[in-house]
Amino acid sequence: MPLTMKNSHIEDKAYEAIEYIRAQGLLAPTTIVFGSHKLRELGELALPHAHRGKALVIFGANSARKSGLTDRVDALLSRYTIKMVPWFGVVREPTVRIVDEAAALARREKVDLIIGIGGGSVIDCAKAVAALAVNEGSAADYLEGIGRGLKITNQPLPMFAIPTTAATGAEMTKNAVICVPEKGYKKSMRDPKLVPTVALVDPELCLNLPAHVTANGGMDALTHLLESCITTRRRPEVTELAHRALRNVQLGLSVAFEDPGNILARERTALVSMLGGVCLANSGLAMAHGIAAALGALHDVPHGLACGILLPHTLRYNASACSDELAGALAAFLNQVEPRDNSISDGIEAVDNLRRWLQIPPDLKYLRLSADDIRTIAEHSMGSSMSGNPIPMDVPRTIEFLETLV
Ligand SMILES: [Fe+2]
Repeated sequence: MPLTMKNSHIEDKAYEAIEYIRAQGLLAPTTIVFGSHKLRELGELALPHAHRGKALVIFGANSARKSGLTDRVDALLSRYTIKMVPWFGVVREPTVRIVDEAAALARREKVDLIIGIGGGSVIDCAKAVAALAVNEGSAADYLEGIGRGLKITNQPLPMFAIPTTAATGAEMTKNAVICVPEKGYKKSMRDPKLVPTVALVDPELCLNLPAHVTANGGMDALTHLLESCITTRRRPEVTELAHRALRNVQLGLSVAFEDPGNILARERTALVSMLGGVCLANSGLAMAHGIAAALGALHDVPHGLACGILLPHTLRYNASACSDELAGALAAFLNQVEPRDNSISDGIEAVDNLRRWLQIPPDLKYLRLSADDIRTIAEHSMGSSMSGNPIPMDVPRTIEFLETLV
């Protein structure tokens, strides 16, 4: 009789959460596969989607070749007679030009499946490419708030998202963040059709990530969970899911940071990231994400680092406007059975302690921002996340808030 590997208790939690996502009818990939070593199932999962037997596989520029992932994916697909067309064009974040180039390649090669394997940027690029391969125009035409305002009319090519970090939850979401470097901003293509067809979350792929990538990514995921509970667009069924995930953050993240090869900790952080993606896609976010987008576009601050710096401050700032919701979320973060009188103060202190433990700066002083810089950041912070903040924010209020951090 063949030996079967028993699921870890984190995998069991993941499948309970996936059942809950389905029962509540939350927006999520059609197929979600979670667990260590699950990458092995790639060929079998891809086969029904690859009628012409050709997949464009988008990798991170350097990491995939270094770790042997490219050969591994090629072998897994070849076993099912699927030819891999590899693409290594995403160096940091996808730009309009990079996405358009990859979409042109997908059309030229007549692939029938797009696979994104890497960090959030790679997965976002793959989502956009899957859509543009079968829709007219450039990525620029679909970006929110700018461009020609085109809508994705044709169903994108089937798309697989395989994260190699635990951070953005991009494997579960309906948007693709795309950089417009010459204009100094990042904007999203956003459409439920962009949700990946298959999310294949194998925590083994996160083993031995550098400590700062683990730290920044973990704070990004934590920010998704907490902001989804307090945003004005919050939904009780999403909050319930966020609470489940929040109970795993402290243990998962602190152990993964200290002991990068600890598979149980990587499973916890992958679960937290995956559920954070579902929460942000179904509820939205708040001001830490509004400002983080501007800091990334204007001052090159990595997204998770910006979230980690801002989160304790934005929670304190918003506390009076969402006290019940914040108390509930922070009680879950503290693993309390239910909120207590001091759950908010203790919870924010614990978030700040985690931030310090992960060696993330306490404020924005290190950027040496001028008054003009602060105004420009505030002006660029007014995206959709900011509009969901519990305290309504405008440019003068955001400037006032930022002045306390510099
Ligand atoms: Fe984020």
